[in-house]
Amino acid sequence: MTCTVVVGTQWGDEGKGKIVDLLTEHADVVVRYQGGNNAGHTVMFGDKTFILHLIPSGILRNSISVLGNGVVIDPAEMIKEIDALKKMGVAVENNLKISSRAHLVMPYHKAMDQLREKQKGDQKIGTTGRGIGPAYMDKIGRLGVRLEDLNDVNDFKRRLEEILPEKNCLFEHHFHSTPFSAQQIVDEYMEYYVRLKSYLADTSTLLNTAIEQKKKILFEGAQGTFLDIDHGTYPYVTSSSTIAGGACTGSGIGPGKITSVVGIVKAYTTRVGSGPFPTELNDDMGVYLRTTGQEFGATTGRPRRCGWFDAVLVKQAADLNGLTSLAITKLDVLDKLETIQIAVHYKDRNGQLMDSFPSCGLEQVTPVYEEMPGWKCSTRNISKYEDLPQALKNYLKRIEVLTGVPVAIISTGPRREETIVHQSVWI
Ligand code: GDP
Ligand code: IMO
Ligand code: MG
Repeated sequence: MTCTVVVGTQWGDEGKGKIVDLLTEHADVVVRYQGGNNAGHTVMFGDKTFILHLIPSGILRNSISVLGNGVVIDPAEMIKEIDALKKMGVAVENNLKISSRAHLVMPYHKAMDQLREKQKGDQKIGTTGRGIGPAYMDKIGRLGVRLEDLNDVNDFKRRLEEILPEKNCLFEHHFHSTPFSAQQIVDEYMEYYVRLKSYLADTSTLLNTAIEQKKKILFEGAQGTFLDIDHGTYPYVTSSSTIAGGACTGSGIGPGKITSVVGIVKAYTTRVGSGPFPTELNDDMGVYLRTTGQEFGATTGRPRRCGWFDAVLVKQAADLNGLTSLAITKLDVLDKLETIQIAVHYKDRNGQLMDSFPSCGLEQVTPVYEEMPGWKCSTRNISKYEDLPQALKNYLKRIEVLTGVPVAIISTGPRREETIVHQSVWI
């Protein structure tokens, strides 16, 4: 039995899609377990580029690809993604399985997400506007609609008639916006249901059977550790459990089945949207990282905020996720730098060194940097660990020491081929 969870260790966009695609070569099943189409996971091989928002990146390798109960699904976007993949020759029909317990993102969720953000003005979270927060609010508030609720059109309509009066009151009187009609939503969503019905499955049973059959399962996290609803920089977070523990609740397998957890980490740090970011660079170096790393969101196209590697943050991610190895991406972006900074401690607002990660108030810390020499040569096309420049190996070693986690995978370009597997991540 092998169950490996892949998680982002920073604020998302660490390169999870690329690494999941790589690891899927050896996986039978790949599972998304939280989030929705707020995610954007890029996979590049040959002359092709795919950006996946909902479907696990493993679909590109013909693996069984599961959307677990913990994911929230915008059915129109899901159908668009299925159609786009089919057009590109990907075998979706046989391989895609969607939990019938997964909750739906409804039109009023998207409207609420966007209206709330507009109303917040400068205080906005900077969400992707995909309705993710409101969909999870309704799930937890027991007001959600699951895919299986569309099995009976009359039940579905009754459910909406129960839910909509309260929502419409908000839309009309608080947001001064248009109310929603139950019949219109029923008509629209029943069409989606017809398209999606054949993919529905009891995915928890499917996964536990695969575990019994000693299959290899890969869990593809979305977002990143510090966007986690409990452990992230609240309220500037997403609305799901992005840490490795979420893989169990979001897919219906027990914690004892997880055998390894791979943390994906960018060689520097980025963040999209609002919220604290201790090592953010609002100077030429920040612009250099954004330009060289092409740091623009895969979902919204927004420029990503950029900064130095924060070892204090990634050490905390190692603890929260129980990381067993690291995959470091985008080292090539640092290729030309004379020197590289790593944050190794935080100081509090009184200038005192902090001995643990702050449970809140990350906006008040000041990072303490350590400088390391850069390698000043191109790392693209290096395929063996031994051939990497010594200064880069020293950077990796320092990260291993500071985080307490061994580096297993080294990525020096966006393509599948531009990766060095130093150690196996499968246990
Ligand atoms: P994800 O959300 O974690 O899957 O990451 P995204 O796909 O949103 O963003 C990562 C970006 O970096 C994508 O454009 C990838 O193609 C690209 N990428 C991944 N690994 C590397 C790498 O090692 N070097 C470079 N230059 N780009 C990379
Ligand atoms: P992947 O999987 C980076 C951020 C948004 C915003 C906050 C809340 O590609 O790494 P939401 O729409 O989820 O309510 O927005 O979370 N965010 C991401 N940032 N990568 C992502 O996904 C993200 N998904 C959400 O920018 O700050
Ligand atoms: Mg992304």
